[in-house]
Amino acid sequence: MTLLTQLENGTYIITINRPDKMNALNKDVIRDLSNALDEIYNNPEIKTAIITGAGEKAFVAGADISEFLSLNKAEGAALAKKGQDMVFDKIENCPKPIVAAVNGFALGGGCELAMACHFRVASANAKFGQPEVNLGLIPGYGGTQRLTQLVGKGKAMELTMTADMVGAEEAKTLGLANHVFALEELLPKTKEILQKIQTKAPVAVAKAIACINDAAKGDPRGFNNEIERFGECFTTEDMKEGTNAFVEKRKPVFKGK
Ligand code: COA
Repeated sequence: MTLLTQLENGTYIITINRPDKMNALNKDVIRDLSNALDEIYNNPEIKTAIITGAGEKAFVAGADISEFLSLNKAEGAALAKKGQDMVFDKIENCPKPIVAAVNGFALGGGCELAMACHFRVASANAKFGQPEVNLGLIPGYGGTQRLTQLVGKGKAMELTMTADMVGAEEAKTLGLANHVFALEELLPKTKEILQKIQTKAPVAVAKAIACINDAAKGDPRGFNNEIERFGECFTTEDMKEGTNAFVEKRKPVFKGK
């Protein structure tokens, strides 16, 4: 098992645990992450999740470069597709909020993993980058798409072509990270944000995730999907609870139904 997992107050904390290899994503990590994501989807006790890296140096320093050496064209494409299907898209499309707590280097596949999460919180020592061109490669786990969505075309072009890393504060300015905290504060503050989200209506949160994903992908059905999902909210017990609680001047108690 390449991951440490822990369920705390409804938040599932996944720690990628290969600190001697900067938590690089090899086949085993991809398989274990895929299984951990299935657990998030299927376990009703899990309300929100955090992905982070073990140690104080790296979130994830990329796909495991040692696995690239012998691949041909079809095998390279298959590796990217498998990772995107099993992990990156599963994170993005998860109906429960998944946040990256970026505790150091987030390079290549690590930056892509953080970008697949619904948003990112960084420690002051975090560094983000897509250095694949140093290896004769391009990002293959969705990096060209999600970096462009998050920072815009010009900056995505420059970061990907230069392979430059950006520090946490610059990542925040660019929209890659939402907050920067001291390393020891990173997990407590991320958990705090997720506890706040857990007080909101879960079905509505899930629908908001799906709508915002439509927008980020430039899906032309985005506006119509929002109208449809807005309507669906009126069928939920939580919508009745939320609106009644407002009128009755009390706090709502949501059931996720
Ligand atoms: N794949 C496989 N192994 C990796 C790795 C990766 N992406 N990133 C780091 N490692 C391994 C190193 O090979 C080294 O292993 P070793 O001790 O068995 O030699 C170990 O992790 C520590 O890394 P090291 O390079 O010695 O640490 P550093 O502090 O000098 O540098 C980085 C840290 C992150 C700057 C550097 O490791 C690096 O550039 N990694 C590759 C980043 C990258 O190109 N990612 C994109 C991959 S597509």
